[in-house]
Amino acid sequence: MLNIILLGPPGAGKGTQAARLQADRGMVQMSTGDMLREAVAAGTPVGLKAKAVMERGELVSDAIVSALIGERLDAAADKGAIFDGFPRTKHQAEALDILLGERGRKLDYVIELAVEEEALVTRITGRFTCAKCGTGYHDQFKLPKTAGICDACGSTEFKRRPDDNEQTVRTRMAEYRAKTAPILPYYEERGLVRRVDGMASVDAVAAQIDAILDAGA
Ligand code: AP5
Ligand code: MG
Repeated sequence: MLNIILLGPPGAGKGTQAARLQADRGMVQMSTGDMLREAVAAGTPVGLKAKAVMERGELVSDAIVSALIGERLDAAADKGAIFDGFPRTKHQAEALDILLGERGRKLDYVIELAVEEEALVTRITGRFTCAKCGTGYHDQFKLPKTAGICDACGSTEFKRRPDDNEQTVRTRMAEYRAKTAPILPYYEERGLVRRVDGMASVDAVAAQIDAILDAGA
């Protein structure tokens, strides 16, 4: 049972690879972005606080996101967790260590998806998902097999994220550079970081990640 972090800037492919690992290996995807979007959609107190912050592309408070992870960590107890978009600050990294430690668990790998920022703008602004089942698509890289129909569930409704416009993407990237990239040394000191080429195709990135996880199994 492995616990891993997928670390990389907006559009690096964290969600794509986490969903794939969940489907192939039965690990549990823990995406704070998805949790926050659910809270916004449901209009919970957390959602009300997070909505405007997310639309600006800034980070939601450490306390809120750490609590969201804490509430869900037990669900991944015997399957392993893929942390997608968490931690994003030194504080969150420390909170995760405490949450795992309390449960007798530890981190196995921090997989860094290395990418070129300019390519990410295209990836993000072209992204859309099935409104019903959440399957991800892209205007250029991954269209549904039949135009307008979800491959997975047959739905004809799709949606785009409100923070997937160029201006917000620039802020999200600046937040990543300023607050998230600096947590890498925290994990490098512990020998946990494995770098993969996030510019390769989705399948090639998946193969790189599988090689890391299988080598350690
Ligand atoms: P979050 O939802 O985590 O967004 P993000 O980090 O900005 O990352 P994305 O989801 O945009 O990208 P991704 O790496 O998952 O890429 P994807 O696989 O979709 O966070 C949103 C907001 O919530 C934050 O801005 C913040 O406000 C808040 N938040 C969340 N967590 C927080 C935290 N811990 N602390 C504080 N605030 C927090 O891929 C992108 C596109 O590219 C897709 O269309 C995909 O099909 C395509 N693609 C993927 N891989 C490839 C490939 N190899 N080649 C070609 N195309 C590819
Ligand atoms: Mg994502």
